[in-house]
Amino acid sequence: MSITNESELIGMKNASEAVACTLKAMRNFAQPGMTTKELDNFGGQMLRDLGAKSAPYLTYHFPGWTCISVNNEFCHGIPSDQKILREGDLINIDVSAELDGFWSDNGGSFVLGEDVNRHQKLIDASKEILHKAIYTIKGGVRISDIGWLIETEAKKRGYRVIKNLTGHGIGRSLHEEPSAIANFRDKFNLTRFKKNSVVAIETFISTNSTYAQTLQDGWTMVGNKGGFIAQHEHTIVVTDGKPIVLTEMNEVWN
Ligand code: CO
Ligand code: CO
Repeated sequence: MSITNESELIGMKNASEAVACTLKAMRNFAQPGMTTKELDNFGGQMLRDLGAKSAPYLTYHFPGWTCISVNNEFCHGIPSDQKILREGDLINIDVSAELDGFWSDNGGSFVLGEDVNRHQKLIDASKEILHKAIYTIKGGVRISDIGWLIETEAKKRGYRVIKNLTGHGIGRSLHEEPSAIANFRDKFNLTRFKKNSVVAIETFISTNSTYAQTLQDGWTMVGNKGGFIAQHEHTIVVTDGKPIVLTEMNEVWN
């Protein structure tokens, strides 16, 4: 969407606060021994308490309130009472929701407890790259130039990017135009970021794979060459200068 007045900005801020606070609370609530279903139920309850509705549930009938992907799962992991979190797991939580007609989306990867499997470097790379990408975006910047930045920064650190997972426009629904804000330079994409538009910017930084594929369950995505990914996502408003990072209070950068 494009922000045209103060009340739309307030609406986006409120929806963004709900998803950001829920993401932060879920990250803090996660403990070894907990199932991903317990973690999801906690997040789902928090969204309801804040008056928000799960976006993947509303939009796609996703079997959960949030997406929780563990270790080799890249994204869209289904919360399960069979999946028990362990010390050192690489966990990605993605929370998106609707509140009073406004939609916001955010996510982040983190290590549970001690980093016994040494995932932190990958996570830090993803966080830094998201930061760099977001503060390069302003009205008039080519979407493909941000893809180029993300891919170049990933390569510099010895990583790859996933080509078929992207950021997207958002605001009046979960996925809007521009439909694909890729993590690589898509030379066929000549479109530019527009001032006042709301977009969800997300990294998909990977150790081995370059494509994500859906498992038999119809949701969970894993890599074509295995390995791990880190994803971090903020919903922002594009301006002439520094963007407004609507989901900043998720503290994925802290
Ligand atoms: Co998104
Ligand atoms: Co998301």
